[in-house]
Amino acid sequence: MVKVTINAKENGPLIVELDGERLCALCRCGKSEKSPNCDGTHAKSGFKAEASEIKVCD
Ligand code: FES
Repeated sequence: MVKVTINAKENGPLIVELDGERLCALCRCGKSEKSPNCDGTHAKSGFKAEASEIKVCD
């Protein structure tokens, strides 16, 4: 069975990992021009959010 983890980075994107390998970084600030992927704009936009981790399955 695969292990899927989603890490919400402090003031940044959702990092999706599959069996410990980074799959993608999803935007959660709503400012990315490459939505749904993070393009780094969050750092310039002043986006603030707490960090957290979710284990979807393992
Ligand atoms: S979280 Fe990085 S651009 Fe939105």
